[in-house]
Amino acid sequence: PDVREIHFVLNGQPRRVDIAPGESLLEVLRNRCGILSVKDGCAPQGQCGCCLALVDGAPKTSCAVAAESVDGKTVLTLEGVTAEERDLTARAFAIAAGVQCGFCIPGIALRAKWLLDRQPRPGRLEIAKAIDGNLCRCTGYVKVIDAIELLARARAGEPLPPLQDNGGVGASLAKYHGQAHALGEHLYVADLEMPGMLHGAVTLSPHARARVLRLDTSKAEALPGVVRVVTAADVPGQRWYGLLYADWPGLVAVGEEVRCVGDVLAAVAAVDERTARAAAALVEVDYEPLTPVLDPDAALAPGAPRVNPQHDNLLSHSVIRRGDVEAALAASAHVVSGTWHTQRIEHLFLEPESALAEPLPDGRLRLRTQGQGIFDDR
Ligand code: FES
Repeated sequence: PDVREIHFVLNGQPRRVDIAPGESLLEVLRNRCGILSVKDGCAPQGQCGCCLALVDGAPKTSCAVAAESVDGKTVLTLEGVTAEERDLTARAFAIAAGVQCGFCIPGIALRAKWLLDRQPRPGRLEIAKAIDGNLCRCTGYVKVIDAIELLARARAGEPLPPLQDNGGVGASLAKYHGQAHALGEHLYVADLEMPGMLHGAVTLSPHARARVLRLDTSKAEALPGVVRVVTAADVPGQRWYGLLYADWPGLVAVGEEVRCVGDVLAAVAAVDERTARAAAALVEVDYEPLTPVLDPDAALAPGAPRVNPQHDNLLSHSVIRRGDVEAALAASAHVVSGTWHTQRIEHLFLEPESALAEPLPDGRLRLRTQGQGIFDDR
């Protein structure tokens, strides 16, 4: 009943789309219009720039644009750029190696088009300023700026250097699959679609430490479109897994503790992502909040609660010895001792964590994930 109809021009074609309350332009483009060059790196934050689209000619992070606000407007994505311009863009990025994992590049490439339409020969600083709203965790931006400079020259009629995709040591090879990545044609796991595919969402703990007293999935199960809700009670075998130690409960059971914000209480499978997320929010959990262990010193104090019931709180003790330390200190003019803290590092990959499990006729599952460790994912 709350569905609303909007009309807009997408890549030159008039479109009529029904939208649900709260739907973003990114959801409309990806889920209803099949436009996959717009990538979801941080929705709905509008921070990374991967979902960039031009709305009435202005660059917008489409995850932060309400779908109803484009009613009557025009929307352009890389799919709607002319074939000639797409070809130049793809080759410029591949030749200049201005693409690595490629997740951010469609947004940057569209931003480059917007810039070059206004300023055909920008300087490097202008280019850097223009792409300031696009995050890239791989390239360091220098080669992206090289690529946009190269693209500017190509659009002005200068021939591009040959794209060398075959050769040995000493050859300057174009980035492998760089052209498809630059145009957003490469499909990442979250872009994959299969007949009958269900979408998953999980119910997360809001507490850093708490005992789970009650878990009720009945409201979530009753939501139309929900296929199944599972909890720890549905797992007959080993629930604990992890990289160094089996320290992650796949699902936390009633009577157990959640040990971080983000521990999982329930998992929902539903016909689409919105339904799955809505159902995950309907799972009722009663907690008894407990004092959390928030820093390493507190974790090592006598009697500290165990962060992981399977292992004590000291993960490892590393000693580095090199040379004759005592002699070196004795011969030093000054000796300084103290404790130094460094910043936290978030490696900020932009591709969302996602997995697609495909049941095979012989009973096995084919699992596609964005991860790097196939055995961990298995
Ligand atoms: Fe930019 Fe990987 S190439 S995020």
